[in-house]
Amino acid sequence: MQIFREKDYEGMSRRAASLIAAQIILKPHCVLGLATGSSPIGAYRRLVEGYQNGELDFSEVRTVNLDEYKGLAPDNDQSYRYFMQDNLFSKVNIRPENTNVPNGLASDDAAECARYDAVIHSMGGVDLQLLGIGHNGHIGFNEPASEFPKDTHCVALTQSTIDANSRLFASPELVPHYAYTMGIKSIMMAHKILLIASGKDKAEIVKKAFFGPVTPEVPASILQLHPDVVLVADEAALSLVEL
Ligand code: F6R
Repeated sequence: MQIFREKDYEGMSRRAASLIAAQIILKPHCVLGLATGSSPIGAYRRLVEGYQNGELDFSEVRTVNLDEYKGLAPDNDQSYRYFMQDNLFSKVNIRPENTNVPNGLASDDAAECARYDAVIHSMGGVDLQLLGIGHNGHIGFNEPASEFPKDTHCVALTQSTIDANSRLFASPELVPHYAYTMGIKSIMMAHKILLIASGKDKAEIVKKAFFGPVTPEVPASILQLHPDVVLVADEAALSLVEL
């Protein structure tokens, strides 16, 4: 595992954006696995700047997002599809048909999960998977459990995740309790993984995930077994780790 220790959120975002930009330049038709949440917003902003400066071309890039809330329409401003449109897709020259997010309005969970796995498969897998990390160690919405869930599945969110996400909703009752998420197998099959973490509140879980035992109780700990992981974190998120 390679670790980049950056000063703060801006430094983390700059580094993450450079690594994603390098992937796009090396392979213009690459498949990017993308995440939502607070962590990647700064990196997406920098990628948009790269496009505006003429340094980056997204015309052949394909994307597959990690997850989506069940029950939210793409135009709901809390949906992850909306987040991606707002923070990245609508601001660069990516083709809409090359972007993939699970369908939050699917009526048949099993069919939607199978469809999503087939999409990932048809693209030949993910070249670079961007990940944030939840306070309980979740990646995507793969929550702590007694085993690692393999494929895309519909998951009941834990109370800790619902509480953490309620900051973004008008009221806690509006936070969906279920989500579709890529499974651990799809994440682990990505050629390269880029996990970003910022802030003191992530220090404990960064230590557990990357320096503790590999266990499904801390889903991100499985990344220790991946051959090409880059952790980009700021000083606060790495404050409990001796490097
Ligand atoms: C979002 C996702 C989640 C987040 C995690 C951290 O697509 O997959 O696993 O990466 O909840 O969220 P933030 O970045 O808001 O702390």
